[in-house]
Amino acid sequence: MTKKTTGRTILVLNGPNLNLLGTREPAIYGRATLTDIATATKSRAGELGFQVEFRQSNSESELVSSIQGARTGFAGLIVNAGAYTHTSIAILDALSAVDVPVIEVHLSNIYRRESFRHHSFVSRAATGVIAGLGAKGYELAVEAIANLALAAGGRRRNTAAAKTARSKTAR
Ligand code: DQA
Repeated sequence: MTKKTTGRTILVLNGPNLNLLGTREPAIYGRATLTDIATATKSRAGELGFQVEFRQSNSESELVSSIQGARTGFAGLIVNAGAYTHTSIAILDALSAVDVPVIEVHLSNIYRRESFRHHSFVSRAATGVIAGLGAKGYELAVEAIANLALAAGGRRRNTAAAKTARSKTAR
């Protein structure tokens, strides 16, 4: 399905245990808290002309409901599903029904870690994946969505221009 980026709001969804960032295994996840990450993500989005809705939940069902609510009308979705990345077909199914670009983010490089982290259900529904770049990954994901929105705007403008040109030729 072609993903349609719309509007100027990016939804950022964080899964279980990410509320503990800052104190949770800092050698792996860094010292930035989720609030620090939200602030940096919103600030980068603001520079690029976007707004961010930033959420965290430890509950799979809440994450699924958030994803269902974001099927359309968003510029894109940034998802760090935490451990549900590796287990949740429900989150994959919800993301597969989403009509806007999805960027999967992980603070750690999941492919350098335990083998049970090497498989991601989220990746099957993701336009792109950023892993191993720490908190910066969220800002890079915002840039990716901004680029996709810019490209889609260009495509929409070209299609409109082509239509106008065709109708002028037909006259
Ligand atoms: C994580 C990686 C997951 O394997 C882990 O369960 C997390 C965080 C990351 O951001 O690196 O909770 O998604």
